[in-house]
Amino acid sequence: MNAAILPTKSLGGQVRIPSDKSISHRAVMLGAVAAGDTKIENFLFGEDCLSTIKVLRALGVQVTVAEQTVLVRSGGMDKLAEPENILDAGNSGTTMRLMAGLLSGCNFFSVLTGDDSLRRRPMGRIITPLTAMGAHVSARAGNSLAPLAIRGGGLRAMEYRTPVASAQVKSAVLLAGLFASGMTTVIEPACSRDHTERMLKYFGARVEVDGPRVSIWGKPNLTGKTITVPGDISSAMFFIAAGITAPEAELELLNVGVNPTRTGALDVLRNMGANITLHNQREISGEPVADLKVRGSRLSGTEIGGEIIPKLIDELPVLAVVAALAEGRTVVRDAAELRHKESDRITAVVRLLTGLGADITERPDGFIIQGGRQLQGTSCESYGDHRIAMAAAVAGLSAQGTTTVKGAECVDISYPGFFDTLNSITKK
Ligand code: S3P
Repeated sequence: MNAAILPTKSLGGQVRIPSDKSISHRAVMLGAVAAGDTKIENFLFGEDCLSTIKVLRALGVQVTVAEQTVLVRSGGMDKLAEPENILDAGNSGTTMRLMAGLLSGCNFFSVLTGDDSLRRRPMGRIITPLTAMGAHVSARAGNSLAPLAIRGGGLRAMEYRTPVASAQVKSAVLLAGLFASGMTTVIEPACSRDHTERMLKYFGARVEVDGPRVSIWGKPNLTGKTITVPGDISSAMFFIAAGITAPEAELELLNVGVNPTRTGALDVLRNMGANITLHNQREISGEPVADLKVRGSRLSGTEIGGEIIPKLIDELPVLAVVAALAEGRTVVRDAAELRHKESDRITAVVRLLTGLGADITERPDGFIIQGGRQLQGTSCESYGDHRIAMAAAVAGLSAQGTTTVKGAECVDISYPGFFDTLNSITKK
């Protein structure tokens, strides 16, 4: 599907932000290892989270869906059953890496695969610690690429220092740690999103956090809970970016998760001069939530690098679009991880913005943008990557002429209905 975006001067209205993808995955996975019933309200029915549900059903977990609510019924963590067939994580890195952690704890054989994009993404980063804990995991390309064949069980607790700040790696080890007697510890080079830690505590596990050092005590008695999933700040960010770069805009974004391990982009944008305010701050199922007001703003370039990168990693494509529309220079560094996402997001962003007439230079670990040029509408590739497609759409609002986003259906991975919502806030 192609999506055509027309230039728009004025944006207004309210958007209820769709549910958080990371939290939805974790809710259904922890529900699957907690004894009893878990009720998940406001679950994200994007394709990635549906992949997680499919995988869990193949392991014998009862997952039923009624409107926006998901009910997970489980006999507990030792009741997962050997799947009869290979498990397909689709496009979802979170499904593959976190499920590999759980499957490593299970005393049976399983195979995890995914789509073309996921089968190109690095898996050595989870295979190394899971193998060190005692799981037998083998994979293609010298144990680095999916499919992964896992024979789990008999795990030992350990302390693991991961070379990459990644919530998926941290979570894979913590979930495996559930099955090992004693304390398993993960130490990251910088703090990544902490939804797994928060939710494990919510389900009754003993978890201790000391900066980038997280420990879990194995063999807990997890019991089913009711969880309400907040809106996804990574999805909200496309409308925040659209609002602050429009000449006239007043948008209200409702129900946005503002967990401090996810709000790096808000800090960066405020630093660039963005008019974003938080209202009605509250806590939902252990996660901070707020409503946001966003207005058209005068923006200037900035530098983004170091420890903030994991707190805004998924927002960098749309931050690049904002930087191209801001006055002055923006430098993004220390973000080589972007090359290992659903697409190589450094190359994808550089091609997208170059095609639209922006001044951007690729670097091994990021890019440099000289902002302020008028963008020109053109035909843009999405590379099958939901966040590139949505970033291209936001750029199109400020470009002259029509911007066409090719393969736009990939937005369904994290934001079904994105283009309808975008239309609804556009004042014709
Ligand atoms: C995610 C962690 C991040 C992020 C991804 C979702 C998660 O990946 O980019 O979209 O749910 O844990 P990494 O752990 O690879 O950095």
